[in-house]
Amino acid sequence: MTLTQIIYTSFPTFPVRAGWLTGPLGEIVRAGRDHNARNQISGILGVEVNRFFQIIEGPASRVEETFERIRYDTRHFDVRLRSSRDIAVRTFQDWSVGFAARAFLPASEPTQIDFDAASPDVIIKRGQILRRYGVIAEAGLDRSSASGS
Ligand SMILES: Cc1cc2nc3c(=O)[nH]c(=O)nc-3n(C[C@H](O)[C@H](O)[C@H](O)COP(=O)(O)O)c2cc1C
Repeated sequence: MTLTQIIYTSFPTFPVRAGWLTGPLGEIVRAGRDHNARNQISGILGVEVNRFFQIIEGPASRVEETFERIRYDTRHFDVRLRSSRDIAVRTFQDWSVGFAARAFLPASEPTQIDFDAASPDVIIKRGQILRRYGVIAEAGLDRSSASGS
């Protein structure tokens, strides 16, 4: 099975507060939990200062289908695909939402990075840091259906 990983950045069209899973963000998290577990999608949605980034990994067709759904969502804009590649192994074992906020991050980690200048590798590293320190919502992969496609 071919695994694909994509990375995009975007800007929220609604106010985002660190650690809040209410309002539009709560809806997005619920949709992600439902759909991604069923589609064997792992990765992370990073909620940064006035910015989103997301890493989506899984079977190629499922990743493409999911991104098509996400990219036209009016809850964010300027959705920019930053990387799309086949991968041999997943970087993320589940799908989660991580917040880049001072309250969560170690002092050595900046609360803001320059996403316009960031390479895909830098964004992946940021995702791993948020996975480690900033996660308040996560969903396990449904491994029982992971062989079907
Ligand atoms: C920043 C952002 C990230 C999103 N991430 C996901 C995701 O990872 N998976 C997903 O299925 N939907 C995601 N969505 C929601 C989709 O755009 C879409 O609203 C949803 O999948 C529709 O599902 P529903 O009909 O069950 O509500 C995201 C939306 C936004 C704005």
